[in-house]
Amino acid sequence: MLEYDPAAFAARATDINADVDAAWSLARALVRLRRDGGAVLDGAYRVVSSPAGDSPRLAETTLSDPSVAVVRRHGQWSPGRRWHGAAAALLDLYWPMLALDASRRFVIGHLGQSIDGRIATPSGNSCHLSGDGNLDHLHRLRALADAVLVGAATARLDDPRLTTRRVPGDSPVRVVIDPSARLPAELTLFHDDAAPTLVACARERAGEATTRWGASRVVAVDVVDGTLDLAALLERLADAGLPVAFVEGGGITVTRFLQARCLDRLQVAVSPVIVGDGRPGLQLPGVATIGDCARPPCRVFRMGEDLLWDFDLRCADGAATASRPPVGGVSRIV
Ligand SMILES: NC(=O)c1ccc[n+]([C@@H]2O[C@H](COP(=O)([O-])OP(=O)(O)OC[C@H]3O[C@@H](n4cnc5c(N)ncnc54)[C@H](OP(=O)(O)O)[C@@H]3O)[C@@H](O)[C@H]2O)c1
Repeated sequence: MLEYDPAAFAARATDINADVDAAWSLARALVRLRRDGGAVLDGAYRVVSSPAGDSPRLAETTLSDPSVAVVRRHGQWSPGRRWHGAAAALLDLYWPMLALDASRRFVIGHLGQSIDGRIATPSGNSCHLSGDGNLDHLHRLRALADAVLVGAATARLDDPRLTTRRVPGDSPVRVVIDPSARLPAELTLFHDDAAPTLVACARERAGEATTRWGASRVVAVDVVDGTLDLAALLERLADAGLPVAFVEGGGITVTRFLQARCLDRLQVAVSPVIVGDGRPGLQLPGVATIGDCARPPCRVFRMGEDLLWDFDLRCADGAATASRPPVGGVSRIV
């Protein structure tokens, strides 16, 4: 008969948490390396913790070092030791955002939605739609990005802080897409000093925006076909040292980035909840047949009760792209 040993279980739980913490430290160290623009040679690296408040950094080591965390060969990074369970899943999930060259631009969009495709109720309430695991994930995405972007409706309805309160990591620069520069100044992100806040507006509103927010906070771009020129906005952010962007919502904003082909990855977290009428997630024009639908390559991660669909949009070119897996069938991911 198996004996239940609480101490052994507690020790195992501590091991798992320590592994996840170590994997997250590696993720942050890789981001720090990118931001510092440091040149690195091929070799093995371990993570060195820094004084409180500073991100961990990488230090060179040898392959035989048991604490080696990551290896670089021919310019490609790979995990340098066996990562298990939750730690391995964490590195797997964030790997596309890690180990980017300093000059590489990268844009990821995310929506948390119900099984009936809603991201909020009709009045705009979206609190507790996603579970804790997905909320931690959102805060991790913020920590890995240089800039987090939201639409004007999200800023107005949620009054979000867009910081990394739930995980260790730096809060990104916040960018509110407010084409007519009309958002109220009372919103938290305009005065909490938790991170800088920029306002992206239409060029013809740049004068008013500058009067309200000051020139250093305004990114004015052209309006093309009724939408802000998002490629130009991303270019301006990259020029300002913010090449990695996280588009956090809402549905209209993520849809516009998708339509402008500005996303490298799109993540949709589906929660087992039925909202009914409400604000939709993606809102795209229809196609004639299912065969015409886009079917980008994707990975699926479980986060508590939520399932995260992580689409690679750079592998896809055009509407109907990646083909179905050759064999139909059902597989468990738990
Ligand atoms: N579940 C989730 O993942 C999630 C995440 C974030 C937010 N939310 C919820 O989503 C709701 C808001 O979402 P939403 O889809 O209604 O609106 P939204 O995407 O937050 O904001 C849309 C508005 O942003 C501006 N905008 C964004 N992109 C633009 C572009 N390319 N060009 C011009 N203007 C652009 C426009 O402002 P103007 O109207 O001023 O022109 C547009 O009407 C809130 O209830 C919030 O709680 C849910």
